[in-house]
Amino acid sequence: MTDHSSKRRRFLVAGMTVVGGAGLAAASWPFLAYMLPSERARTIGGPVTIDISKLEPGQQIVAKWRGKPIWVLRRTPQILETLGTPAHRAKLRDPDSLVTSQQPAYAQNPTRAIHPEHFVVIGICTHLGCVPTFRPEVAPADIGDDWDGGYLCPCHGSRFDLDGRVWKGVPAPTNLVVPPYHYLSDTVVQVGIDPKPA
Ligand code: FES
Repeated sequence: MTDHSSKRRRFLVAGMTVVGGAGLAAASWPFLAYMLPSERARTIGGPVTIDISKLEPGQQIVAKWRGKPIWVLRRTPQILETLGTPAHRAKLRDPDSLVTSQQPAYAQNPTRAIHPEHFVVIGICTHLGCVPTFRPEVAPADIGDDWDGGYLCPCHGSRFDLDGRVWKGVPAPTNLVVPPYHYLSDTVVQVGIDPKPA
């Protein structure tokens, strides 16, 4: 049997601020929320601004938009490399994000993102709406040798990779949904508004 301890990644985890919402509490991996939307923005479902300046490689922060958890993951070069390997892609139902309802056109690309380093996604399982758990480790003992890091739904076991792409053979039918978003600067993301046309 292979010893996987040597190839597990270390992920930095900092202090956290919990965003309201019972679903968010279901995530067992620590998370951060640097900037919360104003009460008014939350009430009317307006755009949400997220400061990602303190996000370290491997970290994920959580915000809230229209009552839904929004995850922003800063992916490492190693994560990005794994997402593109044939062995990993073979595990996925829709590796090329061909189901167009699951992301804006500008995120229908190999990293499902505007900038590959930052993955922005709605943290709701596409099966029945549970909040998947952030599990970025490779081959943890409780998930299995074939796990490349991703999101695991605690309700019925659906698996998603760190692109939010669903595995084959799980209850969830489609990839996680990438919301409309754009960058206000290199370190500030706004969710709820598409980028301006070039
Ligand atoms: S709600 Fe996620 S697997 Fe059923």
